[in-house]
Amino acid sequence: MDILIINGPNLNLLGVREPAVYGNTSFDDFMKRLRSLYPHIGFDFFQSNHEGAIIDRLHADGFNGRYAGIILNAGAYTHTSLAIADAIAAIETPVVEVHISNVAAREEIRHRSLIASVCRGSIAGFGLDSYRLAVEAIARPE
Ligand code: DQA
Repeated sequence: MDILIINGPNLNLLGVREPAVYGNTSFDDFMKRLRSLYPHIGFDFFQSNHEGAIIDRLHADGFNGRYAGIILNAGAYTHTSLAIADAIAAIETPVVEVHISNVAAREEIRHRSLIASVCRGSIAGFGLDSYRLAVEAIARPE
């Protein structure tokens, strides 16, 4: 089974960016840990600070059956991007929304997700472990 992880804007700065909110671990280090926890799952990873690039990747891999699921942390686009929501609704591959922080406990503008209703489900607030929980959600036996 293969899973695609997509990170949106500013998430390339994980480990450096606001460590009190997002922790000290870089995503590269986290991916090493994830790969060692799930050696039987193939992980591909894509990060972009650009809305259109995220949409292009969703289109490119959303119809080919290559991935059992896509784990998407859309960053701030979560709260603003109807275009990413439309792309998720358009594709066939299920998308799981993740957030490192507990967005519901933060500023009001972060309480609204434009993508939640078109995702298979949402996981937030468990630090980088939110991604591992999303893997569990995608890989669980039916
Ligand atoms: C985030 C939460 C968003 O509100 C924020 O804009 C991010 C990261 C998270 O993972 O907690 O960039 O998606």
